[in-house]
Amino acid sequence: MALKVIVKLHSFVLLLLLMHLASADIPATGSEIITKPGCRSHCGNVSIPYPFGIGPGCFIDKDFELSCDESIVNDIKPAYGSIKISNISIPDGHMTAEIFMGRDCPDNRYTASATLVGTFTFSSAKNKFIGMGCNTWAYLGLDDSASICTGCLSVCNKTKDITNGSCTGVGCCQAPVPVGLKTLYVKVGKMFTNNTSERLSFNPCSYGFIVDESSFNFTLPYLKDFKNNGTGTVPVVVDWTVGNETCMEAARNPSSYACGQNTDCSVPEGNNTLGYRCNCRWGYTGNPYLQSSTLGGCRDVDECKEICKGPGGKCENTEGNYTCVCNNGYSYEVRDNITYCILENKSSLPGSTQNNNLNKIVVGKLCF
Ligand SMILES: *[C@@H]1O[C@H](CO)[C@@H](O)[C@H](O)[C@H]1NC(C)=O
Ligand SMILES: *[C@@H]1O[C@H](CO)[C@@H](O)[C@H](O)[C@H]1NC(C)=O
Ligand SMILES: *[C@@H]1O[C@H](CO)[C@@H](O)[C@H](O)[C@H]1NC(C)=O
Ligand SMILES: *[C@@H]1O[C@H](CO)[C@@H](O)[C@H](O)[C@H]1NC(C)=O
Ligand SMILES: *[C@@H]1O[C@H](CO)[C@@H](O)[C@H](O)[C@H]1NC(C)=O
Ligand SMILES: *[C@@H]1O[C@H](CO)[C@@H](O)[C@H](O)[C@H]1NC(C)=O
Ligand SMILES: *[C@@H]1O[C@H](CO)[C@@H](O)[C@H](O)[C@H]1NC(C)=O
Ligand SMILES: *[C@@H]1O[C@H](CO)[C@@H](O)[C@H](O)[C@H]1NC(C)=O
Ligand SMILES: *[C@@H]1O[C@H](CO)[C@@H](O)[C@H](O)[C@H]1NC(C)=O
Ligand SMILES: *[C@@H]1O[C@H](CO)[C@@H](O)[C@H](O)[C@H]1NC(C)=O
Ligand SMILES: *[C@@H]1O[C@H](CO)[C@@H](O)[C@H](O)[C@H]1NC(C)=O
Ligand SMILES: *[C@@H]1O[C@H](CO)[C@@H](O)[C@H](O)[C@H]1NC(C)=O
Repeated sequence: MALKVIVKLHSFVLLLLLMHLASADIPATGSEIITKPGCRSHCGNVSIPYPFGIGPGCFIDKDFELSCDESIVNDIKPAYGSIKISNISIPDGHMTAEIFMGRDCPDNRYTASATLVGTFTFSSAKNKFIGMGCNTWAYLGLDDSASICTGCLSVCNKTKDITNGSCTGVGCCQAPVPVGLKTLYVKVGKMFTNNTSERLSFNPCSYGFIVDESSFNFTLPYLKDFKNNGTGTVPVVVDWTVGNETCMEAARNPSSYACGQNTDCSVPEGNNTLGYRCNCRWGYTGNPYLQSSTLGGCRDVDECKEICKGPGGKCENTEGNYTCVCNNGYSYEVRDNITYCILENKSSLPGSTQNNNLNKIVVGKLCF
């Protein structure tokens, strides 16, 4: 009798272990299909999900065609342009690109410019325009003409003035990036000096650039040298959409509609944007721009493998949905949208909301 119980326990533990292993390889992104059949999925370590692609038939339209130069590490670029792409994100329609900055150094001066095509814009929500240096003016123009778009001034003459992490006009200044910006032109210069050798020793150069706000935090050493005296690149976030219509207009034409099976279509906020984005519906996962759920498009998530766990539960996966039932003597706890069936009177999982009600049936959908 006792032996039997032990054997049962062992196979149960094994079962749990197998379930754990099975669920562990579900979210793995390495083996996931992200491209059209036969297309390259990576350039260096940067992945290239459809609608972006390299080579005929691999991208949705010419604006999404990329090129990859293997001789340079991660040299992935739009086929038409000069920005360098370092990351592409499907769910929120962003990509991160590396662009050059404007600089004014004792021995050289550089005005930075970059242009995006199609419906791509420099994200107004994620980027900031930064001017950096003592006694510096920096402006962000829309083109080479005199029309100033935005800009800022920074004043200081000793390191004591500078506060790390503060970009409010002393050593560093900032301005918002206009909505819908497609072409930028960054010019920067020194003020209050007619003579380059009068420059402050702790701050030879002045800099101007737009940058992903989350990856920039001003500190004093930047004044001495920022990215090899301004010859390096800074990361910016680029927003992208597909098509140039609203969701409803686009859906009327199935042959060109970009969203695949089991998707929702959305139009990004802001008035200056054309086009739309696709996302997998709740309870589905995959690349929403691929048409077929078996070829990388949005497929049902087996919530039973992901979110109904613990020895006391029974779970049934349904299309786009699931049911998690905890047996008698077990109560459920929800933590990070995962339902755990655990023995009653056991101490709670940290950070969980315990529910000891009689209602032990959880039905719901998982949001990705
Ligand atoms: C790719 O590699 C570069 C350096 O080789 C690294 O800086 C970068 O973070 C990597 N990117 C990703 C997405 O892993
Ligand atoms: C690339 O973008 C994805 C999605 O936003 C993000 O999870 C990931 O951390 C990014 N990778 C790098 C190296 O920035
Ligand atoms: C710094 O600014 C103060 C106040 O404007 C001025 O008195 C001082 O001479 C300046 N120092 C240098 C080194 O320019
Ligand atoms: C500012 O940051 C730099 C580098 O992060 C550090 O060396 C310096 O001591 C900091 N200064 C102050 C006043 O905290
Ligand atoms: C930026 O740096 C300052 C000090 O160096 C720190 O106090 C602050 O939390 C940092 N901010 C971010 C967003 O990392
Ligand atoms: C710079 O030059 C102008 C005219 O040449 C002069 O009026 C001004 O005083 C000079 N400024 C400084 C800080 O030397
Ligand atoms: C520039 O300033 C330095 C230091 O103030 C001075 O020695 C030098 O003669 C000036 N050069 C010119 C061309 O005015
Ligand atoms: C930056 O410029 C300063 C002054 O011109 C120079 O002394 C320094 O070596 C330069 N640093 C780099 C990394 O090029
Ligand atoms: C939208 O895109 C289509 C195909 O790329 C093009 O023919 C059409 O002129 C565009 N319409 C607008 C308003 O840009
Ligand atoms: C959005 O654009 C339309 C037409 O260009 C304009 O009439 C409307 O006022 C704009 N709405 C906002 C909130 O800017
Ligand atoms: C999820 O399943 C439950 C029954 O198990 C059903 O009542 C509910 O409507 C389903 N939700 C959706 C969005 O299909
Ligand atoms: C849980 O699901 C909700 C939507 O159902 C989502 O907004 C939230 O981000 C999820 N939380 C976690 C930790 O995944």
